[in-house]
Amino acid sequence: MVQVFICPTTVTLMLLLSTLPVTLTGDSTLICSTEKITVSLGVDVVLPCRLQPATDAKSMRIEWTRPDLHPQDVHVHQDGRLLFESQNPSYNFRTRLFVDQLINGNVSLKLFNVTLSDTGQYKCYLPSIHQEAVIELSVVKSNVTGSHEPVQAVVGEDVILSCHLEPPFNVTTFTVDWTFNGDLTVHVYRSQRDDPDALHEKFKHRTSLFLDELHNGNISLKLTNVSETDEGNYTCFVPRLESQVKTGMVTLIVDPVKKKDKKIEQPDPTDSTRHGPGAVAVIVSLCLLGLCLAAGFIWCKHQSLNVLTFK
Ligand SMILES: *[C@@H]1O[C@H](CO)[C@@H](O)[C@H](O)[C@H]1NC(C)=O
Ligand SMILES: *[C@@H]1O[C@H](CO)[C@@H](O)[C@H](O)[C@H]1NC(C)=O
Ligand SMILES: *[C@@H]1O[C@H](CO)[C@@H](O)[C@H](O)[C@H]1NC(C)=O
Ligand SMILES: *[C@@H]1O[C@H](CO)[C@@H](O)[C@H](O)[C@H]1NC(C)=O
Ligand SMILES: *[C@@H]1O[C@H](CO)[C@@H](O)[C@H](O)[C@H]1NC(C)=O
Ligand SMILES: *[C@@H]1O[C@H](CO)[C@@H](O)[C@H](O)[C@H]1NC(C)=O
Ligand SMILES: *[C@@H]1O[C@H](CO)[C@@H](O)[C@H](O)[C@H]1NC(C)=O
Repeated sequence: MVQVFICPTTVTLMLLLSTLPVTLTGDSTLICSTEKITVSLGVDVVLPCRLQPATDAKSMRIEWTRPDLHPQDVHVHQDGRLLFESQNPSYNFRTRLFVDQLINGNVSLKLFNVTLSDTGQYKCYLPSIHQEAVIELSVVKSNVTGSHEPVQAVVGEDVILSCHLEPPFNVTTFTVDWTFNGDLTVHVYRSQRDDPDALHEKFKHRTSLFLDELHNGNISLKLTNVSETDEGNYTCFVPRLESQVKTGMVTLIVDPVKKKDKKIEQPDPTDSTRHGPGAVAVIVSLCLLGLCLAAGFIWCKHQSLNVLTFK
């Protein structure tokens, strides 16, 4: 309207009128994800919502609420900022809008470090254009699961102790701990790197995680050069999930070197069965030799008899 005063020419007025439906919302519809969003405890999540056709939502009041909560405000955006005072305290410092994307009608809400109680229906409401939509979020607890079978190894070998999160999720930014028989620290990963100083002497320089597997929730441990004193129970856990899940346990059984030698000797029985045909061959050739000798003897005798007869 102000612009009409500044440039009251018919051309400008027509231009303004033609752009009005887009810039001033007209019949933009708020579209949110209709699929339930399921994520693991502790991760960050985006609840996607946008205005279609794209409309600048920068100056709109945007209400993200959970009608089942008191107070119900999750994130209310007005005059370019979050109304912190009315926000439900459980969401303090855990929400944001993509402020630079509002101009494109992207009114998605990001929630950081979700908890189980974040599970619920989130309503997005834009009062100025009377649009609202609902998204359902479900936060599930992942279980830490070790291998069910004991892991067997031979002294001096390297071994992988399997452990993963079910359902899997990206644990790159989480702390991961491995302990031995309930107390000794085997491996510590925190602040996105290994912490070698925290380890028990016995395990120093012998353990590693598969860092490129962490985003799959795979927190398996590699232990090198196992010795008989490594035999026991290994526990893998993710402290941030601890109160929610049982921890994974892996039992390692270490065979002394001798058993390995025995295993190498095991082909012997098959060797002795190979002696079988060999012995048979010897016996057969001995028999043949005997037969030949006997035949030769008879023939000789016969010949000499003939000689005698014809003499
Ligand atoms: C909104 O913007 C964020 C950040 O760029 C992006 O992750 C999200 O996918 C966008 N959502 C929609 C619905 O465009
Ligand atoms: C995530 O939330 C839990 C409790 O809900 C808290 O203990 C933890 O410190 C939070 N983590 C981050 C990175 O904010
Ligand atoms: C985690 O383990 C518990 C107890 O064993 C089980 O009831 C629950 O369904 C498991 N959760 C998942 C996501 O597998
Ligand atoms: C896992 O999380 C880290 C840290 O937030 C991030 O850099 C990485 O891209 C994520 N990986 C995947 C596959 O999402
Ligand atoms: C975890 O990664 C290791 C090394 O790549 C692999 O041997 C193991 O099978 C993986 N475990 C799972 C559950 O994917
Ligand atoms: C393996 O461990 C034994 C002691 O258990 C040690 O004497 C040996 O040097 C180690 N071998 C390697 C290759 O580190
Ligand atoms: C390891 O765990 C099993 C089963 O829980 C138990 O029977 C065994 O005594 C434990 N071993 C050690 C060394 O703690």
